[in-house]
Amino acid sequence: MPLAQRLALLKPTAVNAILGEVQQFRNDGGQPVSLMRGAPDLPTPTHIVEAAEQALRAGRTGYPDNRGESSLREAVSRAIVRRGGPAYSADDEILITTGATLGLYAALGAILDPGDEVLLPEPVYDAYVSAVVQLGAAPCPVPATRIDGRFSWDPNRVADACHSRTRALLVNSPWNPTGTVLTPAEWESLIEIADRHDLFLISDEIYETICYDGHTHVTPAALSDAARRRTILVNSLSKTYSMTGWRVGFCAAPADVISAMFLVLQQSSRGPATFVQDAAVAALDGPQDCVERMTTEYARRRELVLSRLADIPGVELLRPEGGFFAMADVGSLGSSSNQIRRALLNDHAVVVMHGGAYGPSAEGTLRISFASGGDNLDVGLERLEHGLRAIGS
Ligand SMILES: Cc1ncc(COP(=O)(O)O)c(C=O)c1O
Repeated sequence: MPLAQRLALLKPTAVNAILGEVQQFRNDGGQPVSLMRGAPDLPTPTHIVEAAEQALRAGRTGYPDNRGESSLREAVSRAIVRRGGPAYSADDEILITTGATLGLYAALGAILDPGDEVLLPEPVYDAYVSAVVQLGAAPCPVPATRIDGRFSWDPNRVADACHSRTRALLVNSPWNPTGTVLTPAEWESLIEIADRHDLFLISDEIYETICYDGHTHVTPAALSDAARRRTILVNSLSKTYSMTGWRVGFCAAPADVISAMFLVLQQSSRGPATFVQDAAVAALDGPQDCVERMTTEYARRRELVLSRLADIPGVELLRPEGGFFAMADVGSLGSSSNQIRRALLNDHAVVVMHGGAYGPSAEGTLRISFASGGDNLDVGLERLEHGLRAIGS
């Protein structure tokens, strides 16, 4: 039976595409070590797990409030303010979603008509692209410039990419895959462009707590009332509390936008399980030292990656300001990033992402994840170092 023609436009996420190759390598008897995924290996803190257990025992297994349980919307509202954001009403300016993925889906679904355009930072977290395409809209990647090893968006390029059908800027800071944390001044210039062209600013803040070397995340919604009106804040507990498998996230925006997003969301997901939402309240309202501990651990791993891969001929490590990915410039090794990735898998049993998967301006780079630590990181870095030296010789 024929399937929808629309499917031809959708692509598997880059990670999912490579997982197929990794499985084949395993089937052939290989034992790869993965430095590919953004899946933290740190356990979800105990008090959060216990809150879910208690909620389950208390019978919190029925349908949740489809907008999100009011206790969680209130906890989100408090957490946004605690982290320097503006006040949002728990009644009508917050929506609980099944991870940031569904938050992005609802945001895009609420604002895009077929033929509209969305500006995306390139290198781009590749999953944004199909989400836009699925709605009949066009993703417009705006290439970043790289200055002294730091990727950033040149405001002139962003402004030049605006057309009459441009509806939104979708920005991710800390930025996967580049590791850049946008400064308030960088946000201001994007807000100015959004004002001038009457655009929504969708701000994916999923790595907000994972910042290094004094860099801090600022939500654009905090910068002015006008910015708050344009911003759709998208976030989740996936990375902050090591809860990727719990599938719980949240959005904040003006009430009319949240109400439209809620309408979209009801057609696909009616929110995370009720007991998961109770656990999310425990995460957001409970002690936050677990978040600090995790960031300290990621900072330690980041140093490990930067030091272990520092002196490989033809390889330049870029120092991430946030998130848990480091980009390595391997452009002078003479092969495409995908060829190097394949050689690392097939000949050295280590999995990384090729920069080309995130767009042309990341071609010549590899993205190395330090979301997993311990032996996995040690062995992975050993194989990576060995592999890159061998490829370069
Ligand atoms: C930039 C970015 N946004 C969104 C997501 C998906 O988040 P969630 O697990 O909350 O759906 C990821 C996951 O890796 C990501 O890197």
